[in-house]
Amino acid sequence: MSKEEYDIGMIGLGVMGRNLVLNMADHKFSVIGLDKDKDKVDALKKESGDHDVTAVQSLDEFISKLKEPRAVMMLVPAGDPVDSVINELVPVLEKGDLIIDGGNSHFTDTNLRLEQLGKKGIHFIGVGISGREKGARFGPSMMPGGSKELYAQVKPIFEAVAAKVEDDPCVTYLGPGSAGHYVKMVHNGIEYGLMQLISEAYDLMKKGMDMSNEELHEVFSKWNKGKLQSFLIEITADIFDKKDDRTESYLVDRILDSAHQKGTGKWTSQDAMELQAPVPTMDIAVSMRDMSAYKEERVAASHKLNGPFPSFEKDKQAFIDQLEDALYFAFIATYAQGLAQLKAASQAYSYHLKMNDIARIWRGGCIIRAALLEDIRVAFTEYPDLPNLLVSPNLINEITEKQSAIREVVKTGIDSGIPVPGLMVSLSYYDSYRSKQLPANLLQAQRDDFGAHTYERVDEKGTFHTEWK
Ligand code: 6PG
Repeated sequence: MSKEEYDIGMIGLGVMGRNLVLNMADHKFSVIGLDKDKDKVDALKKESGDHDVTAVQSLDEFISKLKEPRAVMMLVPAGDPVDSVINELVPVLEKGDLIIDGGNSHFTDTNLRLEQLGKKGIHFIGVGISGREKGARFGPSMMPGGSKELYAQVKPIFEAVAAKVEDDPCVTYLGPGSAGHYVKMVHNGIEYGLMQLISEAYDLMKKGMDMSNEELHEVFSKWNKGKLQSFLIEITADIFDKKDDRTESYLVDRILDSAHQKGTGKWTSQDAMELQAPVPTMDIAVSMRDMSAYKEERVAASHKLNGPFPSFEKDKQAFIDQLEDALYFAFIATYAQGLAQLKAASQAYSYHLKMNDIARIWRGGCIIRAALLEDIRVAFTEYPDLPNLLVSPNLINEITEKQSAIREVVKTGIDSGIPVPGLMVSLSYYDSYRSKQLPANLLQAQRDDFGAHTYERVDEKGTFHTEWK
C-alpha cells in the first residue's frame, strides 16, 4: 500500500520489532518499518497482508512518510546499536519529534540519551517490553518512563498493543527519566531468581528422587494449576514434554548445563549493591549462571571432591507437595526483594514508582507473570507504604505457614549434596528480615578493632571507638 503518512515508525524488524509492528497494525495503527536487512523488510511486507504497514531500507524514505511530529520506535540490542541508530536519526529528525527505545537498555544509558536528545529538542521515551516474540505479537507487558506529557501521546498505541488482564492493559506510565528501563531491569532480575529456584526444584526431583521427564511434566503441569500458576512454570512443564528431533531422548537432557546471560540480571544485582538493597536470590541466580559456565572445572572437580550421594528416600508425593510450598515461599521472597529494590531506587532516583501499578502490569504479557502478582497488587493497593512484601497482611499467613516446607526442602538439599542456593538464600532473606538482632554488632567490633571504623551503641547516641588490644 503506498501511503504517504504513517502513525509510527519502527526501526529494527527482527523478531520483536516485526511482531510489535503486526500487533500495532492489528489495532488499526499505520506503521512503517525500517531495516537495513532486505530479507527482514520483505518478511514484514509479506506478513502484513492488507494491514496499513510497509517497510523500507532507506532512512530518508522512512522519515518522509511519518506523520509529524514524528514518533520513531526502535527495537535493537542494548548498548552501541541504540546509539548508532540515534546518531543516524538525529540529523533527519526535527524538534518535537519522539524517539522510543523499546530495548533492554541500561537505565544509566537512558538517562544520558534523555539529556543529550533533550538538548536538541528531540523527545525520548525508554520503555521496557517483556514477553519476547509471542508477547510482542499478541500483547507484551510494557514499562514506559520519561515525561508524563509525552506518554500521553503514545498511551493510545501502547494500551492497544499491551497484554490485557480483565480488559486492563498491562502498561502504565511508571515515572520520569529512566524509570521504565529500571523497572524492566528489575523484572529481569526477578526472572533470573525465579528461573534459578525452578531449576533447583528440578534438580531435587531429578537427582534426588530419580523422577522421569514424564513425571516432571506432570508435576509442573499440576503446579501450574495451583498457587504457582505462572508463565515460567507453564513453559517448564512443556519443556519436560519436548522430544529431541535428533535422538529418541528428551531435548532437555541433550542441552549443555552451561547458562548464558545477556546481563540484565547482573545489572539488577549491581545496582542493588549500589543502593544497599539486599536481593540475595537474584545475586545467587547470577552467580549460579556463572558457576554453570565452569563446566570443565566442575567435571574435573567431581572426580576429586566427594560428598553425599545425591539421592534420598522420601514419600514422593509428600516431598513434591513440600517442594511446591517451598517454591511458593521463595517466589514471594524473590518478588519481595525486587519490589524492595524498586522502592529504594524510586527514592534514590526520584522515580515516584507505585508498587501496585508495577504488580498490576506484570500480571500479564511478561516473563514473570504469575497469579501471585494479583495478591501483590492488592497488598500494595491496600498498603502503598508497605515496608516489604513479606509483612503484607494478605500474604503473611501463607509465608509463615510455608516456612516449614522450605526449611525441610533446604535440609534435604544440604543432606543430599544437591545445591539449593536460591531456596537457601530466599529462606535466609526471610529469617534475616524477621531477626530483631543480627550478628552485625560483631562485624562492627571487628571493623573498629582492625580499622578504627567506629561503632554505634545500643544504649547511647553517638559514634565510638575502642583500642581493642
Ligand atoms: C523478556 C526477557 C528478555 C530477556 C531474555 C534473555 O522480558 O522478554 O526478559 O528481555 O532479554 O529473556 O535474557 P538473558 O539472556 O539475560 O537470560
